[in-house]
Amino acid sequence: MRGSTNDSNFRLVNEQGEDIIQLPVLKGTVGFEVVDVRHLFDKTGFCTFDPSFGSTASCRSAITYIDGDAGILLHRGYSIEQLVEKSSYLEVAYLLLFGELPTASELAQFTRDITYHTMVHEQLTRFYTGFPRDAHPMAVMAAVVSALSAFYPDSIDVFDPQQRLISIHRLIAKMPTIAAMAYKHSVGQPFVYPQNHLDYSANFLNMMFSVPAEPYNPNPVFAKAINALLIVQADHEQNASTSTVRTVGSSRANPFASISAGIASLWGPLHGGANEAVVEMLQQIGSKDRVPEFIKRAKDKNDSFRLMGFGHRVYKSYDPRAKVMQKICDEVLHEVGHDHDPLLELARELERIALADEYFVSKKLYPNVDFYSGIIERAIGIPSPMFTALFAIARTSGWLAQWKEMIEDPDQRIARPRQLYTGATKRDYVPLERRTAKNGTPSGSGRPMPSEPAIVGG
Ligand code: CMC
Repeated sequence: MRGSTNDSNFRLVNEQGEDIIQLPVLKGTVGFEVVDVRHLFDKTGFCTFDPSFGSTASCRSAITYIDGDAGILLHRGYSIEQLVEKSSYLEVAYLLLFGELPTASELAQFTRDITYHTMVHEQLTRFYTGFPRDAHPMAVMAAVVSALSAFYPDSIDVFDPQQRLISIHRLIAKMPTIAAMAYKHSVGQPFVYPQNHLDYSANFLNMMFSVPAEPYNPNPVFAKAINALLIVQADHEQNASTSTVRTVGSSRANPFASISAGIASLWGPLHGGANEAVVEMLQQIGSKDRVPEFIKRAKDKNDSFRLMGFGHRVYKSYDPRAKVMQKICDEVLHEVGHDHDPLLELARELERIALADEYFVSKKLYPNVDFYSGIIERAIGIPSPMFTALFAIARTSGWLAQWKEMIEDPDQRIARPRQLYTGATKRDYVPLERRTAKNGTPSGSGRPMPSEPAIVGG
């Protein structure tokens, strides 16, 4: 079987050159063309095999465009560099959701709609006291966001555009509040209510760092940096967490459940959790003279160590978000008077050595957005477990834009991939007394994990 294309079809032909099937080739406005395989199985009995979706376009989307070779990221056609320089996070959220930059009155209305919803139901605050103080904020956020559906049953009908909009407002508005409350719980300080006269970024800083006993004025350089961080992390087309949100949402689950699933997916160290992992890695390396040792480990196939903050599935050149973050990083470090933060110097040395190393050059592994974001957040005073929480706040607008687009797309059905089955073929049930242990069968000690309470008297 071979494949070839003519003008608008991809032809699968047999050894004799006869057509098995012709598949339509679809063109977007820019970027690569895709072969439409939707009817391949019905017509031929063959499926495609693409476990990590490296060659699969899972949907049509008009939100974000990435050219990974050229290092270009556009939201609705606008470059990430221009958006960071000229825009605010809420304006970018509007752009992602509705397709165009808002007029002044549209932006004012959208800002009002968001600020109106920044508080959480007072009863929800009791959830926090059930969590240990050292609970990871992403665990808390995933749980609390999922629980929002219990508090807002009036906005979970996904087929009602007005209810969809209210849920979108609620989620964008409440995410900073929910994240900051997770932090306050971890340090044993009282929750700080949102202040709607502050903009989105300054309000987050206020909820994180103000205490009832002291006046607090959010530092404008920090607020600007948070705004930039939120914009660069707002959307990134069909990444793991966005695909998770779309998959969960495709079953018509409510938006709170879908976004909660996105938070869980983002948490992983290969995705949004990488910013926390970068700082941990830099601390583990410790000093510049140990960089070569860790570079060697990253290249060793028998060592699970990877350079966190390096590499990307789509970018095969410098991640444009990392470039933007480098500049913001300089501004923030200048503000805090740590122009020479040893961690930043270490990061730059690591980058310098990696970018000159044949392994990283040949595999096109460049610093990604997470490489610098953790250093910026650390300088602002945000503790490392909160780095991914901030990423989740930012990505909420992108998740919701993608979720809304999916619900409104008449072509979308429930996500239901097929598989290449490699398990046992049909066999007869074996009674318990005739079974023998096989290699690979799990056997536990039966003892509780250290964190599990033993059942006493039970
Ligand atoms: N350090 C060392 N080797 C690497 C790294 C790295 N950071 N990233 C990829 N490689 C190697 C990998 O071992 C593989 O080598 P080979 O071809 O010899 O088997 C090759 O490069 C291709 O890697 P891959 O894992 O097949 O690529 P992928 O597209 O599946 O993974 C990635 C992309 C981002 C998960 C991966 O580059 C990685 O693990 N990076 C570190 C984690 C990280 O920084 N994640 C943040 C991503 S950007 C923000 C976001 O999306 O949330």
